[in-house]
Amino acid sequence: MPAPESRLRYFVAASIDGFIATPDGGVDWLQPYQKPQPGDEKDEGGWQAFAAAIGGVISGRKTYEKMAGFGFWKGAKSPAVIVTSSAIDAGNPNVVANPDPAKALAQLRDTMAWGDIWLLGGGQLASGLAAEIDSIELHVVPVILGAGIPMFAGPGPMVEFEAVTVRRMPNGLVRTFYERLR
Ligand SMILES: NC(=O)c1ccc[n+]([C@@H]2O[C@H](COP(=O)([O-])OP(=O)(O)OC[C@H]3O[C@@H](n4cnc5c(N)ncnc54)[C@H](OP(=O)(O)O)[C@@H]3O)[C@@H](O)[C@H]2O)c1
Repeated sequence: MPAPESRLRYFVAASIDGFIATPDGGVDWLQPYQKPQPGDEKDEGGWQAFAAAIGGVISGRKTYEKMAGFGFWKGAKSPAVIVTSSAIDAGNPNVVANPDPAKALAQLRDTMAWGDIWLLGGGQLASGLAAEIDSIELHVVPVILGAGIPMFAGPGPMVEFEAVTVRRMPNGLVRTFYERLR
């Protein structure tokens, strides 16, 4: 049964200057903020509620490769579509490739049985799908990277959002939940 109404949700951590990775794709600077912290049991960061609502994943090829290094795709139970002009071998039949962002999104909705879609990133794919994003869960990390891969790599359309909740986490992250204005 397809899930055509699935919401497209970008869950992302960015530096104060708007980067999601260093110029070479590094994300080690995020590690201190991924440790367990007070409030986790209350899910103040929203991760557990987010993960529980996700029935499919869409990812750009570079993010796919980065996450493959962590073994992310091997155990993926939800359908996932990787936007890439190349062939992929994720070692998992749930993970397939499509070269066109909009078609990849439609393919994912056709494949999914339930739930929302995690726009995993990165910035290039987020720009390509900006017009389709329903919500953004932005975690601002209190660091200036100075250079890197932007959260939205552009070019893309102007799209308006409303900040629904803003929360300072105990570890210093600021989480803002944005809903798309329609
Ligand atoms: N901090 C965070 O929360 C966070 C979240 C996600 C990712 N990241 C990091 O972000 C980095 C990758 O981001 P990125 O922006 O460089 O790359 P990306 O969006 O992950 O991948 C770019 C590739 O995906 C395909 N693609 C993406 N958008 C497309 C479009 N509109 N049209 C056609 N093809 C498209 C192309 O693949 P082909 O070249 O194969 O055709 C393109 O080269 C990684 O280092 C990752 O770890 C960080």
